[in-house]
Amino acid sequence: MAPYIGTGTSRIDGIAKVTGAAKYAAEFNAPGLLHGSIVASTIAKGRLRRIDASAAKRVEGVVDVLTHTNRPRIADDDKAYKDDVAPSGSPFRPLYDDRILFSGQPIALVVAETSEVARYAASLVEVEYEKEPHVTDVYRQRDAAIPVKPPTNEFEALFTPPKTRGAPEQALAAAAVRHEAEYTTPIEHHNPMELYAATVVYEGHGKLTVYDKTQGVQNVQRYLCGVFDMKPEDLRVVSPYVGGAFGVGLRPQFEAVLAVLAARALRRSVRVVLTRPQMYALGYRPAMIQRIALGANSGATLDAITHDAVTVTSQYEDYNRQETGWSGLLYTCANASYAHKLAKLDLPTSCDMRGPSAATGVYALECAMDELAVALNIDPLDLRLRCYSERNQDTGQPFSSKELRECYRQGAEAFGWDKRNPEPRSTRDGRDLVGWGMATGVWDAWQAPITVRIVLSASGDAEVACATSDIGTCTYTIMAQVAADMLGLPLEAISVKLGDSSLPQSPVEGGSWIAASVSSGIATTAAAIRDELLRLAKQIPNSPLASAAPGEVALVDGKLVSKADASRSVSIADAMRQGAVTNIEREITTNPGQDARAHNTHSAIFAEVKVDEQLGVIRVTRVVSAVAAGRILNAKTASSQILGSVVWGIGMALREETLIDHRDGRIANANIAEYLVPVNADVQDIKVIFVDEADDSNPLGVKGVGEIGIVGVPAAIANAVYHATGKRIRDLPITLDKLLV
Ligand code: MOS
Repeated sequence: MAPYIGTGTSRIDGIAKVTGAAKYAAEFNAPGLLHGSIVASTIAKGRLRRIDASAAKRVEGVVDVLTHTNRPRIADDDKAYKDDVAPSGSPFRPLYDDRILFSGQPIALVVAETSEVARYAASLVEVEYEKEPHVTDVYRQRDAAIPVKPPTNEFEALFTPPKTRGAPEQALAAAAVRHEAEYTTPIEHHNPMELYAATVVYEGHGKLTVYDKTQGVQNVQRYLCGVFDMKPEDLRVVSPYVGGAFGVGLRPQFEAVLAVLAARALRRSVRVVLTRPQMYALGYRPAMIQRIALGANSGATLDAITHDAVTVTSQYEDYNRQETGWSGLLYTCANASYAHKLAKLDLPTSCDMRGPSAATGVYALECAMDELAVALNIDPLDLRLRCYSERNQDTGQPFSSKELRECYRQGAEAFGWDKRNPEPRSTRDGRDLVGWGMATGVWDAWQAPITVRIVLSASGDAEVACATSDIGTCTYTIMAQVAADMLGLPLEAISVKLGDSSLPQSPVEGGSWIAASVSSGIATTAAAIRDELLRLAKQIPNSPLASAAPGEVALVDGKLVSKADASRSVSIADAMRQGAVTNIEREITTNPGQDARAHNTHSAIFAEVKVDEQLGVIRVTRVVSAVAAGRILNAKTASSQILGSVVWGIGMALREETLIDHRDGRIANANIAEYLVPVNADVQDIKVIFVDEADDSNPLGVKGVGEIGIVGVPAAIANAVYHATGKRIRDLPITLDKLLV
C-alpha cells in the first residue's frame, strides 16, 4: 500500500514522553490548585461509627476534610453509577455512607494547599469502626460460590459461557486416557507505573475540566455526569497520556469522583493522587480455582472436556468473563461442559486485567493439555495439531482467519523444538536442569463502533480526531500511520487528537479492539475525503481525472492520482482551489467485522527454563512467541507489545501474587517492593514472530495485539518447569518453596 502501515515506526509521541513534555493527569495545573489526600478504611467490613477530623483540620494549610457526613449531594441510585463496562450489581459509591465494603475503601478526603500537608493531615484523621465478620479467602468461600448469572445487557453477552455440547461425562468415563486436575491462580494487581490521579480544574459557572487517568474519557464523562447530575457540556474529561492501565482504567475510578466532589464543594481546582498502596483498592485480576478434566480416545484426539471454575468478585458486583469458554473454543472436541461460579468476598470488585479470563483460563487448559500429552506419551505440540480446529468449537463458526498452524510451525522452528528430549529431567546445563515447554494462546479480535473526524487542509496537513485513549499502546502513532498512508501525506503532516471527551465518540480502549476499530474508521473517513477531492478535481476544466471513478484513484504524495495511469493527477491544493475551500472535513462512524464468523487472534509460545536443582531458582532463559493477529500496523511497537506481554507472563508464572492477611482482610504486599514483578535481570532472550495472516473483516485486516501476547505464556513456562524437574506445580506463581517440597 504505502510507506507507513506495517513498518516499524517509532512513536510520534516518544520524544514528548521521554523529555517530560507529555502531561499526565497529575501534571496539569490551575491557579490555586488544592490537593486531596485519601483516608482509607483499615477494616474489610462494617460501619463507620465516627470520623474525627479535628486534629487534621487544625494543621495549617488544610482547607477541609470531606466525609460521607458533610459531602455535597451525590446520586443515590445504582443507575447513575453504572459505567459502560460495569458488571451487574450495585456499583461502589465513594464517600456515600457509613458502610465499609472493603479494606482500603476511601472514607475521607483531606484537602489542603499542598500535597504534603494533605497527606500529613490525613494521617491525623481518627476513625472508629463497628467491625463485622469478613471473608477475603477464596478457598474458604469456594463452597458458597454462586453460579454466574445470565447476561443482562449486550456487553455482558460477549462473555456468556458456552453451552454444554454432547455428553461430556459419558465421554470422559469412556475415554482411553484421562487427565483431571485442579489449577489455581492468585489475585494479581495491575501496577501501572503512573499513579491514578485526577486534576479537576474549576472553570467557573459550574463547569469542570477533569484530567483523569483513564482508558475511556467518554465513559468517565458519562459516569461523572450521572453521579453529580451534571450536563456533558459542563464536564469535559481529558486524558492525553496514560502511563499504563492494563484494564484497571476501563471503569471510572474513585480518584475522579473524589476530586470532582471536592472541587464542587470548595469551588476550587483540586487534584487527587492515589498512593501506590491505595491503588490496590481499585481492582484486580480475580483469583481462580479451576478443575479441568480431559479425555482422549485411542487416536490421541480429544473426546471430552469439562472445565469448572470459581473466580472472585466483591459482595456488591458480579464481575466475570468467559473464563471457561476458551477451552471449549480452541480444540476439536465433541463433548464439553463448563461451569463458572463466583466467590463473593469482602474486597473491591475484581476487574479486567490484560487478557482477562484467557490469561487464567487458558493457563489451566494449556497445562492440562501438556499433562494429557504426557499421559498419551506424545509430543505436546503433536497433541495440539491433532486437535486443531478450523471452527470456533463453541459456536461452530468458521474463523475469519486462523494461522495458528503457521504459528506452531514457525515458533517451533525458531525455538528448535524438534531437538527436545521428551523425558523430564533429561537435560542439564551445569547445575541447572533445563526444561522446554509450549502452549497455545488465543484472544478475541473484536471491533466496536467508533467515530473518526479528519480535517484535510489545502496545504496538505491533516488532523485526525477521535476520543479514544492511548494507554501506552501506540494509538497516536498507528492513527498517524494509517492516516498518512490513506491521505498520501508524510507522517509529519498528520496531527492526532485523542483522549478528550469533546472529540468524536469512542469506546473505552480495551479488549484489544481499538487498533482495528480506529484504523478502520480512519481508512473509511479518509476514503470519503478522497471522494470529495475527486468530485472537486473532476470540475477542473479538462480535468485529467474527468472520467475516474472513486475506486480508481488514490491519494499519493499530496495528489489525487489515477491508479491506472500515474501521469493523470490533481494536487490536493488544486482540487480545493477549484471548490473554493481551504479544507475538507469528514466525520464518519464505522463498525465493520460484525459478520457471522469467529474473530480471534492466536499464538504459539515456546519457553525454556533453567532450574537450579538445589535452590529451586527458576530462570526463563528463552521464549519464542509466534503470533497470528492479522495485519500488523507497526512492526516495532507491536513487537514491543508482545515482548512486554511475555515479560508479564513470566511474572504471572513465577512472581505475581497479591497476599491478603485474612485476619483483617488487608492486602499485606500493597506496594511494588513486595508485590514481585520481573525486572530486567529476569528477562533474557525473547523472540517475537508475526505470522502472515490475511483477514477481510475490516478494510485493513487488523486484529489487535494488546492482549494476545500474555495468553499461554504462564502455561508454557509451567510446562517447561515440569519438563526440567518432573514436578507439576499447579498453583501460580511457581515459587521456589513449592518446587523444593
Ligand atoms: Mo484491557 S484488560 O481490556 O485494558
